[in-house]
Amino acid sequence: MGNLQIAIDGPAGAGKSTIAKKLAERLNITYIDTGAMYRALTYKVLKEKIEINSKDKIIKLAEDTSITLLHEDVYIDGHLVKEEIRSQEVTKHVSYVAQIPEVRKILVDLQRKIAADHSVVMDGRDIGTYVLPNAHIKVFLTASIEERANRRYTELLQKQQQINFTDVINSIKERDKIDTEREFAPLVKAADAIIIDTTGLDVEVVVEKIQQITKNKL
Ligand code: C5P
Repeated sequence: MGNLQIAIDGPAGAGKSTIAKKLAERLNITYIDTGAMYRALTYKVLKEKIEINSKDKIIKLAEDTSITLLHEDVYIDGHLVKEEIRSQEVTKHVSYVAQIPEVRKILVDLQRKIAADHSVVMDGRDIGTYVLPNAHIKVFLTASIEERANRRYTELLQKQQQINFTDVINSIKERDKIDTEREFAPLVKAADAIIIDTTGLDVEVVVEKIQQITKNKL
């Protein structure tokens, strides 16, 4: 068998990145956070003060920008970006940038190149359906909206960001709506993906479950 491909998709706050990262650690393979790539580009769009509905300018910017990943870190034009791509401002705008097909194609090319060279656990919205349609394992993670919002809210409080719970719920719902309704590579469960509802489940239990599924399948 060539490189192992594990695709983990699902809506915002379903626990994808925490779980995907731990799973990759256990399997000793590369973890790719594709959301971080869309976030990094959105960060640059906002920094350059480009209007969020200026599609052509955003496409041009995407073409002229170098996005690289190294050990789970994202670099934009050679600069490491970490917390700045997790800001509420970036979160609010990222789905608008991510719905542009030309932008997606640029980032998907990069994602596929990484998967061609390494065994990966890749998390996102369209990994099992579009980026890696032949992935060996496909998991669709979900959780109740209350739980997803609660996780995000706790995360933001820990970072001392000012926000109220209702705003977090609304922001998650809005992002999921745009991600699900976009025309090109929307958020949808792949027909052959296994659904895991993480509501009330411990991270370790979910990681163990996916590791077992992987073992049984290979
Ligand atoms: O995973 P995360 O919540 O950081 O993703 C941020 C946003 O990036 C998503 O809401 C979605 O708009 C976009 N995204 C995407 N396709 C992916 C990963 C993320 O459209 N594969």
